[in-house]
Amino acid sequence: MRRAAKATFVALGAAAVVTGLVVGKGLRHGFSARDEPTAAEAWVARKLRILAIPALERGARNPVAVSAEVLTSARRHFADHCASCHANDGSGDTAIGKNLYPKAPDMRTAPTQHLSDGELFYIIRNGIRLSGMPAWGDGPAADDAESWGLVHFLRRLPYLSAAELAQMKQWNPVGRLEAQEDERIEKFLSGEGPADPSPSHHGQ
Ligand code: HEC
Repeated sequence: MRRAAKATFVALGAAAVVTGLVVGKGLRHGFSARDEPTAAEAWVARKLRILAIPALERGARNPVAVSAEVLTSARRHFADHCASCHANDGSGDTAIGKNLYPKAPDMRTAPTQHLSDGELFYIIRNGIRLSGMPAWGDGPAADDAESWGLVHFLRRLPYLSAAELAQMKQWNPVGRLEAQEDERIEKFLSGEGPADPSPSHHGQ
């Protein structure tokens, strides 16, 4: 059998198994997003996901050279776009990340860190179907230096310093609003700002 046909065959078989498991479990326990996937569900879903990534893309090498600038820019991007679900440290410990089904994983640990660069890149660009993980890439993959920068950053997740994490808080969408608000209140108190510091007069 041709390789592609074989992969499709295996994927279809596995899909049937996972559907059986999911439906069976759903009928017994309901389809709440609060449940934990069973170990079998999680294993099959992960295998299927990896099978679904074309071999060429799985083996793709990161074309972006790692540098301090690339890492800082990716860290900023992650704080702005990814941390609402994944948390600044990649633990997934956020109100949204914990309540999705499947949950946002702890990306500092082996299952994520053992994914190849190509797999991480593919996941960032294409998202993960039937999960909360959105697709981020548009335009040709070859031009997507930003997603490749994120791949470098994901490798750094287990080693982020307290200072780097503190800086990311300022870059989180909520942190940014709070920082703007603090600045406005400070200006008001020092007599330079607009007269009323109440949040309802934001003007944006
Ligand atoms: C709306 C919530 C949400 C946002 C925003 C989000 N993700 Fe995810 N992400 C998830 C969930 C949920 C999963 C787990 C899906 C699964 O296990 O099938 C996931 C999985 C992943 C994975 C696969 C990890 C693994 O081990 O399987 C990577 C890599 C990833 N996300 C990177 C990112 C990056 C980079 C960004 C920002 C550009 C981002 N995500 C933004 C929810 C999100």
